[in-house]
Amino acid sequence: MNPADLRWSIARYPAALIDRVALADGRAVTLRPVLPQDAGLTQAFYRSLSPSSRYLRFHMGVASLSSAVLRAFTEIDYDGHLALLAEVFDDDDEERQVADARFVRRADAPIADFAVAVADDWQGVGLGSTLIDRMLAAARRRGIVRLDGEVLAVNRPMLGLLRGRGFALRTDPQDARLVRASISTGAAPPDAIGTPADVAFAGG
Ligand SMILES: CC(C)(COP(=O)(O)OP(=O)(O)OC[C@H]1O[C@@H](n2cnc3c(N)ncnc32)[C@H](O)[C@@H]1OP(=O)(O)O)[C@@H](O)C(=O)NCCC(=O)NCCS
Repeated sequence: MNPADLRWSIARYPAALIDRVALADGRAVTLRPVLPQDAGLTQAFYRSLSPSSRYLRFHMGVASLSSAVLRAFTEIDYDGHLALLAEVFDDDDEERQVADARFVRRADAPIADFAVAVADDWQGVGLGSTLIDRMLAAARRRGIVRLDGEVLAVNRPMLGLLRGRGFALRTDPQDARLVRASISTGAAPPDAIGTPADVAFAGG
């Protein structure tokens, strides 16, 4: 094989999304886009959630992620599919993931579906709302015009968080156990982004 044919094909890692965030109780986390080598970290995170938090996240009992889901969660393109994790380090520099947030853009529209989960012992100190804010800003920059989410009607913390951030909440007419949440990101719809004439004028 010609060495010139060997290409590293991962999308460019969005390092600008790496940040250190102080939380309401004085603890701090590092936020960063997920990497393929985070599969073990992500599996340990979801396994560490209480059954109740896992149920609220996946809407069913999930003990651990299958290898296919784990790959889909960690091998992402950072554009249509973006995932941010929050992590902390112990005294031996051992990493622990304490939150996961992601959106996945639909194939047929500039709309993305989002989901978030925070470790039980890190809930209620602003991590979930920080991650939603980062997701919204990143979606806007990627030309995604709307974020949609499905929340169980019994999930008061999530509904409170979303209501406080201006999401529209509507009970699913087909299934009263589900609330559909959506918010406009403020990104211009694709039609308004530019016509070929605009591009020519800009010298593109
Ligand atoms: C829902 C979840 C993501 C919220 O994240 P979080 O980090 O705990 O939330 P925050 O600390 O950012 O809280 C933001 C808002 O949520 C609400 N909230 C958070 N914890 C709450 C609780 N225990 N009871 C009631 N409201 C709560 C409040 O409205 C809060 O607003 P405030 O800023 O006025 O305090 C988190 O609890 C979680 O991961 N739950 C399990 C999985 C899940 O439900 N995922 C969502 C699936 S769609």
